[in-house]
Amino acid sequence: MSDCNAYIDANRDRFLEELFDLLRIPSVSADPKFAPDVLRCAENVAMNLKAAGADNVEIIATEGYPVVFGERHVSPDLPTVLVYGHYDVQPADPLELWDSPAFEPIIKKTDLHPEGAIFARGACDDKGQFFMHVKAFEAMVQSNALACNVKFMIEGEEEVGSAHLEPFLELHKEKLAADIVLVSDTGIIANDIPSITVGLRGLSYVEVEITGPNRDLHSGLYGGAAPNPINILCEMIASLKDEDQRITVDGFYDDVVELSEAERTAMAEAPFSEEEYKKSIDISAIEGEAGYSAPERMSIRPTLDVNGMWGGYTGDGAKTVIASKAMAKISMRLVPNQDPDQITELFTRHFEAIAPPSVKVKVTPHHGGQPAVTPTDSIAYMAASMAMEASFGRTPVPFRGGGSIPIVASFENILGLKTVLMGFGLDSDAIHSPNEHYGVFNYFKGIETIPLFFKHFANLSRS
Ligand code: BES
Ligand code: MN
Ligand code: MN
Repeated sequence: MSDCNAYIDANRDRFLEELFDLLRIPSVSADPKFAPDVLRCAENVAMNLKAAGADNVEIIATEGYPVVFGERHVSPDLPTVLVYGHYDVQPADPLELWDSPAFEPIIKKTDLHPEGAIFARGACDDKGQFFMHVKAFEAMVQSNALACNVKFMIEGEEEVGSAHLEPFLELHKEKLAADIVLVSDTGIIANDIPSITVGLRGLSYVEVEITGPNRDLHSGLYGGAAPNPINILCEMIASLKDEDQRITVDGFYDDVVELSEAERTAMAEAPFSEEEYKKSIDISAIEGEAGYSAPERMSIRPTLDVNGMWGGYTGDGAKTVIASKAMAKISMRLVPNQDPDQITELFTRHFEAIAPPSVKVKVTPHHGGQPAVTPTDSIAYMAASMAMEASFGRTPVPFRGGGSIPIVASFENILGLKTVLMGFGLDSDAIHSPNEHYGVFNYFKGIETIPLFFKHFANLSRS
């Protein structure tokens, strides 16, 4: 066993306890009520970085929540790895659906995690995952095995769109100078099927508001002639997809890069069981765009989904009313080379055009994000692949994920840096959902794999 692995092994319990302390801080970025906790969480991250051996640890203010920075310079002859992660988490609501409190981490066994999983909001997304880097770093420092220079940049606004991070990158280009960005905020196919994410989708997120009559009306006195904004919103939303489940927004697909047959064949190599997929979310049939497989629909194809919809009377019992307004939140996942601002523009124009003259339409854009693809022919990919092959005993499969990490495109555009997405979560870990968890196996597998990445990346950079 290497000294590094021996160190990890000897400190397992503490590595778990320190993560538990981090998970106890409800750093929910979306809800201003948690602002003091988010700031306290930044302090905790800074303290952990210092304790692990980082120099120049700083909590750097932004217009929003701060970014925690730290670094360790070993030698100008070695490459520099910039580790990115986020210490903010999604809201834990609905709280009543958690089997144990969201901010009181506890280890429980599950079918997919027979060694136990840590249940808490942020356990997998992303506290458990970025903390693997802090602990792997500590293990490398303590066992004299730090093979690269390293910089940490852990932000606090990822779950609300990273609005202040691009200016941060612009402002700190020199401080962040590196050779590669390494991120653990994605997943693997299964604990016995390691994989590396090589693509992320972009995002355009809008809120729409339909206004009919100037006040809520008696549905008997006015119903039949007064425009009902809820009915109309439903019709408008229904028309956004055709019978092939293609999105009808004019120009929506214009910039979509189609994959070659060879690329689609390679993609189909990644194991996917439709039966297990259906079973895992308790549905009897899958949905989606004609002509594409389920994994394709979830990664290389764009989507349009209503995330929430409201209006009218939703309390107990019945109230006979025609509401004045109806609202919905709509997200579109984007693929290369769709541009989020342009898609938002196309959507707005389309949505205004399809509204009947009886109502007014307002479309408000929320945050967006660029899609990203990462190379599979780089030394950084090779280093990640070799590292995972050694720790899992199986070569990882490259695959494109369906989620979004908008800052990945900005690393390339602003810092000129490529990213390696070496995450260790499972889709079934319930990120953003009640009972989020992260396998104890996955946590330690990550801590064990990261030093191997550093070692291979340094070696490959030299040759
Ligand atoms: N870590 C996720 C994204 C993710 C998870 C990518 C699993 C691939 C696999 C990230 O924290 C996230 O939730 N991103 C948001 C983006 C947003 C709020 C702009 C998303 O994808 O909805
Ligand atoms: Mn995340
Ligand atoms: Mn997330």
